Amino acid sequence: MNITVLGTGMVGQTVSKRLVELGHKVTMGTRNPDTTLSRTEPDRMTGITFSDWHKANPQVCLVTFSESVKGADLIINATSGFASLEVLELAGEAAMDGKVLLDISNPLDFSKGLPPSLFVCNTDSLGEQIQNRFPGLKVVKSLNTMNVYIQMNPGSLPGDHNVFVSGNDLEAKAMVKELLISIGWREQTIIDLGDITSARGTEMLLPIWVRLWSTLGDINFNFHIQRAK
Ligand SMILES: NC(=O)c1ccc[n+]([C@@H]2O[C@H](COP(=O)([O-])OP(=O)(O)OC[C@H]3O[C@@H](n4cnc5c(N)ncnc54)[C@H](OP(=O)(O)O)[C@@H]3O)[C@@H](O)[C@H]2O)c1
Repeated sequence: MNITVLGTGMVGQTVSKRLVELGHKVTMGTRNPDTTLSRTEPDRMTGITFSDWHKANPQVCLVTFSESVKGADLIINATSGFASLEVLELAGEAAMDGKVLLDISNPLDFSKGLPPSLFVCNTDSLGEQIQNRFPGLKVVKSLNTMNVYIQMNPGSLPGDHNVFVSGNDLEAKAMVKELLISIGWREQTIIDLGDITSARGTEMLLPIWVRLWSTLGDINFNFHIQRAK
């Protein structure tokens, strides 16, 4: 597939690299490719600069947000939650019409320090805000409840653990589920929560996720829904 990844941070980088390994043609979107390639500060999570990452992953084509969505079979939103709507405006509503958007973003607000709060919750979610603003997009929220290394390599954790899927369009969810299975998620561990309003629940897992990070001391964990046999 031609897959566009919006976002150049650790999520955009890790997702793009994995999708190239799986044989997809990956295009990455950013505000200004020259500015992004000339960043000298290492990413605070990966410890490397974007240009070093790009030298190691030359198959990923870096272009502007608006260039990136042209010709995409699937678009993945891996941008800061605060910027997601703005990024999608830059990408252009017409160019995205009818396409599937896998939304990995979270509405985290770090402006008041740690732990972050949610800038939308309870009666609304970022997934819904994106769907409502861009009704022609088929938004599927998924993968936002575990760290990106587990997202892209679920087998790195022992035993069963779960990934959630929320969205209004059944075919779009089927496309995302197929992608998840190709990445390594076992079909039985994928839980379809229903329409896009269920993204409220998965986005609201983030406060407990952040507390677990601080309590457990690392990010290598995920949620597992244990059911009665
Ligand atoms: N880290 C994880 O393991 C993890 C797990 C689950 C979900 N998530 C979610 O995944 C998303 C990406 O996380 P991340 O840490 O990789 O990246 P990030 O630092 O949250 O976001 C980086 C991207 O956001 C864009 N951006 C930031 N401010 C902008 C603005 N004012 N206008 C336009 N674009 C702007 C940047 O554009 P440029 O490229 O132009 O700089 C960049 O592409 C977040 O929503 C995060 O909550 C992360």
